[in-house]
Parts: sequence; structure tokens; C-alpha cells
Amino acid sequence: MNKLEIAARIAELRQFIDTANYKYYVLSQPEVDDRVYDNALKELQELESENPEFFDAASPTQRVGSDINQEFEQVAHAFPMLSLDNTYNKEELIEFEKRNKRILNENFEYICELKYDGASISLHYENGKLLRAVTRGDGEKGDDVTANVKTIKSIPLTLKGKSYPGVFEIRGEIFIPHKGFEKMNEERREQQLPEFANPRNAASGTLKMQNSSLVAKRPLDCFLYYLIGSRLPFDNHYDNMQAARDWGFKVPDIIIKCQSIDEVLGFIEKWETGRKNLPFDIDGVVIKINSLRQQEILGMTAKSPRWATSYKFKAEQALTLLESISYQVGRTGAITPVANLSPVQLAGTTVKRASLHNADQIALLDIRVGDFVYIEKGGEIIPKVVGVEKSKRLAGSKPTEYISHCPECGTRLIRTEGEAKHFCPNTDGCPPQIKGKLEHFVSRKAMDIGLAEATIEQLFDEGLVNTVADFYQLKNEDLLKLDRFAEKSADNLIKSIEESKNVPFERVLFALGIRFVGETVAKKLARSIGSIDLLMAADFEKLVSIDEIGDKIASAIIEHFSVQKHLDIVEGLKKAGVQLAIKESQAPQSNLLAGKSLIISGTFSKYSREQIKELIEKHGGKNVSSISSKTDYLVAGENIGPSKLEKIKELNIPILSEDEFLEMIG
Ligand code: IVH
Repeated sequence: MNKLEIAARIAELRQFIDTANYKYYVLSQPEVDDRVYDNALKELQELESENPEFFDAASPTQRVGSDINQEFEQVAHAFPMLSLDNTYNKEELIEFEKRNKRILNENFEYICELKYDGASISLHYENGKLLRAVTRGDGEKGDDVTANVKTIKSIPLTLKGKSYPGVFEIRGEIFIPHKGFEKMNEERREQQLPEFANPRNAASGTLKMQNSSLVAKRPLDCFLYYLIGSRLPFDNHYDNMQAARDWGFKVPDIIIKCQSIDEVLGFIEKWETGRKNLPFDIDGVVIKINSLRQQEILGMTAKSPRWATSYKFKAEQALTLLESISYQVGRTGAITPVANLSPVQLAGTTVKRASLHNADQIALLDIRVGDFVYIEKGGEIIPKVVGVEKSKRLAGSKPTEYISHCPECGTRLIRTEGEAKHFCPNTDGCPPQIKGKLEHFVSRKAMDIGLAEATIEQLFDEGLVNTVADFYQLKNEDLLKLDRFAEKSADNLIKSIEESKNVPFERVLFALGIRFVGETVAKKLARSIGSIDLLMAADFEKLVSIDEIGDKIASAIIEHFSVQKHLDIVEGLKKAGVQLAIKESQAPQSNLLAGKSLIISGTFSKYSREQIKELIEKHGGKNVSSISSKTDYLVAGENIGPSKLEKIKELNIPILSEDEFLEMIG
């Protein structure tokens, strides 16, 4: 092929793929065989890479995304992305109607649409090509997410026909349909990743992903509902949206004209129940004045347009039979009562289980087995029981008696004052709690050993691993006996365990799962104390003298190391060669400041504040943030606020200059 023929072939392929995408993703009418589509795409990719002079940012090959991590650039919106006023009942809608009548003082028409529950987006087109896609952000400026948005196949990169304005903006909602959402979460469960709570979070989370080739794998879709530009084809919203549909946009066909608020109410009523059968989430209806001239007369407030409002639906509920209550023991020993329900459809998914929260909630709502209960989806993954249909209660039903003993290990449950949940106190002997500790130990931020939850379960059930130290006793032969393992996977695990011996002490300390010792606290402790032996030997006074370590953490540490089993674990880890002390470079350099509290203020010339802080800690001191009579020294830089200085003088706290401080620590 000569260049001319190549150019023609490229144009032909682009046109073919664009049309196939449009039919499949916008019209939901697949027409092209998958293989034919794939071949065309492949041929186009090859031609483009061999002939880079024909590159086009709007080519369908650009939809696959890229692996390069992007930083989002902030872009100001030419027109602010406002929110909508909400109404919740007929009366509030009638208020809206009255205001429109008063201001317009002539006939007007409403347009009703669904209120899509996703992430709003603004798309900019120039000469029929997608130029930029920007998130709502704070309404004034948003993130340029063009690379991610290009992967959404229902958004045209090149417009159809010729009748679109040269420059315009179109806004809409990016969302994930129910089916895609369920599949996505299923995959996340398999990969042991946290699930998304709802399609909206999943959509907005995906839109902000830095790697657009991963975005391309997510089932995003986009409805468009608002056209902005100085040369729009029509003088009203409805006709403009129909035109936008002809240009290739996915404009919902659930959109109606209404001449009265009664008709609006009819639409609302229809979709309040009808939404159950939609394949995506909506959270209400949007009502807009149709005429652009009238929209302009009505104008906007700083927050929202006066020409539109939304009617918000109540959270969707379903009524179903409570068949039984089971009690789950969490990884921390917390007990959660769970309702086992007759399966019921709710907001696009089948629900069989729902949370009952805790004993108080069950008592408050007087929830009993055999009751018909209302369930609702909140922001969380698991729906919750929100009420009981008492009229359906059978005679002879009995109030629920909360369990008194752990369903997993039989230990008597405790309930600490002020805590809503019951706890199983058998932290070292209760299977889910043990597994929780094992999972925490291997997790990425801790020892980073490549082990799935199900494998841990199996290792525990087979008696191969009971404590975190047992991981280091595992041998290839042990693993090969389990059906989960083949040569290679067994080798990999042993290797990963071996590598964990290089994990620095601060992460090992975090991995131990001592109560209240999270990542930051572990880091603090490791750096200021230096080794597990010194930590175990430290008394309460010593612990609380460390910056940011309070009574609660200190007691938890002392309690942890008062248990023989925990001492044995440390011994086991030591023998295995796990890092139980910090490396020389991080170790405390002296005890010159031991027991002393120092406050840092002002700006310094030789060191940064952070470095001064580190120096204090390296020499055994504690850096405190507020002045009190217990403060031993002020390390003073330049430009200290006058009120602070006054307080320091009042309390007679000695002041050290940067040089004096450095001299003090040698
Ligand atoms: S019109 C200035 N139409 O709701 C009004 N918005 O609370 C422009 N939304 O940020 C928006 N469905 O993300 C409009 N059919 C619809 C909508 C819709 C959902 C979202 C949109 C907006 C928010 C306002």
C-alpha cells in the first residue's frame, strides 16, 4: 500500500470500529461479530504503529488506555458545575412551581429525566472530536481525566454527522450498571481486594485511577443530560438533547415533556417503583424548565440553577422474612448478628443476608425470628434491617435472646462499657481471631507474604500454622500435601516467607498485631526503642515518655507481653531470623535526652523541623507539641510567635538555640 492507500484504510477501519462501538455501547444493538471487530482493531493498531504520522487522539485505538501513571491536571470550568436543589415531597415541588410562575409570568414546559447516581463529567468537543473530559471537582475546577474517559466506549471520540456546533460542552453522569458492578466485586473478592460499597463509589473511584489501561477494564458507561454552548441548534433543552443523540451521544430515552406539576408527579410515581427494574442506580428525578430563554430568566443562585430541581427518592426498601439470626465473630473478636433472609430483590441485587448491628439494635426494634423485616441499603456493602412489619407477626413469637457465649470457641462474651458490640475475649484461642492475626501478619503493609485468605484458612485448619511464628516452620513437603499447592506455588510461598525475613523491624512490630499499635505507632516505637527486647523490657513510664505514646497504648503493650504465648511467638520469630531490631542507621544514638520532653518552634537554618524531631528521638527524647509545665526545653528557631514565647517565659522553660541543641546532643 502507498501512503494514500494506507490513509484511506486507516480511515475506513476507524469508521468501522466507531460505528460498531456506537451500535454496541450506545444503542445496545450489537451488529458486528467479535472476531471481525477484534481483527479490525488489530489491523488498525498495526497500521497506526507503522505509520505514526497518521496518529489521531480520537482514534478508537486510543480507548485501551495506558500504563503510564498520570497526574491529573486541574482545569477550571468555563461554567461552574452546580448542584441541584433537592425536593422530597409534593409540597416542595409545588413551591418550585409557584416560584417559576411568579418569575416567568407566562406558560412554560417541564422536562423530566431520571437522576443518575454516578459521577458527573464535563466533556468538551471541538470540531467533532473529544478534546477534554473534566470531573466536577469542587464545582469551580475539576481534574482532567480525559485519558480515563476515552476508554468508555459509549462516549464518542468522533461525532457523527455534520450538524454539531464547532465548540461545545456536554455534561452527564458516568456510572456502572448493576451487572458490571456485581461482576467487578466478585473479581475483587477473588483477588482478596476490598469490595466497593456501591456502583457510585466504584464509578468515581475508577474515574480517578492513575492507570488508564486498568480503567479500560472497568464497565463504565455514561448518560448525557446537559448541553452547553453559544451555538446550540435549538432554543430548548429537549430538542438539543435529541440532537446530541444524533451526534452519537448516549442520551437516555427516558425523558418526557410535562405541561403541569401533576404530570411531573406522575413521572415521579412511575419511577419511584419503576427504578427497581432499571439495570442501573438512580436516586431521584430531575425536573428542568425546557425553554433556554426561560432558563436564563430564572437564572441561578451561587449553588444551583433556579430552572431545575431534583426530587429525591427515599432509600429503596424491601420486605422479607427473617428466617434465622446467626452470629459472626470478626477478626478482632467483635460479634455481629446477621439476619438470614428469604432472598429478595433490592436495588438491583438479590439480598439474602443483612446486618443487625448489635444487641441494642435488635432489642430497640424488637426484631424476632419469623418476623417480616424491612431492609435497606446504606452506604455499606451489607444491607441493614431497619424495621419490623409488626402486623405480620405470628402469635407466639418470642423476643430474641442474644447469645452469651462465642459461637466459635464457646468463651463467655464480654461487653465493655460504652461499646456497642459484644466481644469474645479469647484472642489467642478463638479460630476467626487467630486467622485474623495470621492474615494481618502476612498482609502487604506488614510482612508482605503472598498468601490468600483461603490458603491461610487451610493452613490453619490442617494444623500447619497456629501462630505467626509457625509460618517460618513450613516446608515444601507440608504444602504439597494440600490440594491448593503444586511445586511452583509451594516454592513461591516458601520464597516469599524467606524474603519476609528482610522486612524492617517497624513493620514486624506492626505485623504482631498488638492492640492499638498501628503502622504509625509501630514506626514510632521501633525508632525510639530500637528492638523487641528493649520494648518487652520497657515499663509503663518508659513507654509513655515516647512521643505520641499515651496510657492506652502503653498498657496494651505491657499486657501483650505479659502473655506467655506472645513471648513464645517472639522467640520463634527470633529463631527464624526475622528482623526484631532496627538497623544501625536508625538506632538511637544516645540516651542524652532520655525522659526529656522538648518542644520545637520556629524555623531552623541547619536542619528541618522534621530532622530536629528525629534527632530528639534518636537521642531518647520526646518531641511534644504543646507547651506545659512538664516541658523540659524549647528548641528555638527564628520567628517564634510572641504568644508562644511569652508562655515559655511564664513557665520558666529553658530555651535552646539550634546550635545549643546540637551541642547538647554532641
Ligand atoms: S442536570 C445545573 N440532569 O445530579 C444542573 N443532573 O445534584 C445540571 N444528575 O451534579 C445537572 N442526573 O451529577 C442533571 N438528569 C440529570 C441528572 C443530573 C444526575 C446529577 C449531576 C449533578 C447532580 C446535581
